[in-house]
Amino acid sequence: MAKGKTISVYFCQNCGYESSKWMGQCPGCREWNTLTEELVNQKTPVKSAGAASVREALQPMKLSQIALGQEERVSTGYEELDRVLGGGIVPGSLVLVGGDPGIGKSTLLLQVCRNLSAELDLLYISGEESLKQIKLRAERIGSFSDRLALLCETNLDLIAGVLERQKPQVVVIDSIQTMYREDVSSAPGSVSQVREATGVLLKLAKEKGIAIFIVGHVTKEGVVAGPRVLEHMVDTVLYFEGDRHAVYRILRGVKNRFGSTNEIGVFEMSDQGLREVKNPSEVMLSGRPRDASGSVVACSLEGTRPMLLEIQALVCKSNFGFPRRTAAGTDLNRVNLLMAVLEKRAGLSMSASDAYINIAGGIRMNEPAIDLGIVLALASSFRNRPVGEKTICFGEVGLSGEVRAVSMPRQRAAEARKLGFAVCVLPAVCMEAVQEMEGIRFVGVSNVKEAMDQIL
Ligand code: TYD
Ligand code: MG
Repeated sequence: MAKGKTISVYFCQNCGYESSKWMGQCPGCREWNTLTEELVNQKTPVKSAGAASVREALQPMKLSQIALGQEERVSTGYEELDRVLGGGIVPGSLVLVGGDPGIGKSTLLLQVCRNLSAELDLLYISGEESLKQIKLRAERIGSFSDRLALLCETNLDLIAGVLERQKPQVVVIDSIQTMYREDVSSAPGSVSQVREATGVLLKLAKEKGIAIFIVGHVTKEGVVAGPRVLEHMVDTVLYFEGDRHAVYRILRGVKNRFGSTNEIGVFEMSDQGLREVKNPSEVMLSGRPRDASGSVVACSLEGTRPMLLEIQALVCKSNFGFPRRTAAGTDLNRVNLLMAVLEKRAGLSMSASDAYINIAGGIRMNEPAIDLGIVLALASSFRNRPVGEKTICFGEVGLSGEVRAVSMPRQRAAEARKLGFAVCVLPAVCMEAVQEMEGIRFVGVSNVKEAMDQIL
């Protein structure tokens, strides 16, 4: 253990806020009971700021002086993942893959290793599973080339040594919560360990040009040091989300220094690992009921890709004084707001009705463009009148009941046409954008009342 005075510091396990004393509520993120004590070695501050010769040699550069080689990106073998990464793996990048335990992070990265092992040297370091367990998983996934090496180790100083010797091009660290550095006295998984360990990996990635994937578990309570604290250190943050019991998993880009965020990749868990879903709209709409009231197809835009989804609503008379409202897959507050808009602006009296909203397929969508879909699904269920099977809608709904413009209406309409929809209900202001599109009828609406009159 390194020399130096050990002091106790309190870290918020949710946001990484640092304090010298314990507090019930974290001043940083306002969460309760998240501060825990960690022992930290106080390092003696370095007094000299480098030798005089080094100081003089330090030269800032002009942008025009920096030479850029051909930008090289390595495809992961999965289009869905490449898109989220901004076009493939950038050498020397540090990528965090976060998600609930059991969602499929290890499986995904092992599959990426399989795809890459044909042409790159890889190292998969696991602190969670034994070599035998990894082998068992690998057997289900498929055949691997011998350029993939495995290592079960949690000591980061030893791992750094292995990386210097072996010089792999891509490394997977599964998971950051199990890694530790000897000179940090707190337990693996604590904020200071996670932060220090990421610092070491960052340095290795940048100096040696190794692309490193870090797995980070997130728990809802933020009990284990959430990867939140390292989001700002890494280049790219991807979250793997979805219900553990549903087959569809969504990989979402949250931060990306090499591409746009908001892109998603869709995967499906099977008995042979994860499979790409290249046509999510088709999959989300499969098994849709025919001529059922309360079922409406809406279009949400995820990054650059339009995705069609089925919104289901069930509105029925409440047996209690206080009606029940639930929303699965979207924001309940938004649903409550839209119900209030319907009541006030379209005269549907739903205050004595229970309402249940569900986005089919077990995925979460929060884009405001699905507002019109939610409103029409609620109205359709309330009036018990089905919406046409070949009708699709999108548009944001405002508090006065107006239907507002959304981005990229043309792309959304094109996706709907591709899947055989015949009628598209959209904000009237977006009509110009879709003017000469053929094969689909457009209905421009300016408020929810108009939409209901046209469709129901
Ligand atoms: P895992 O990748 O270990 O999740 P994480 O690393 O995010 O904790 O495993 C996810 C789940 O997937 C696990 O419960 C078992 C399941 N699974 C399959 O259904 N099929 C498969 O082929 C594999 C490898 C896993
Ligand atoms: Mg795992």
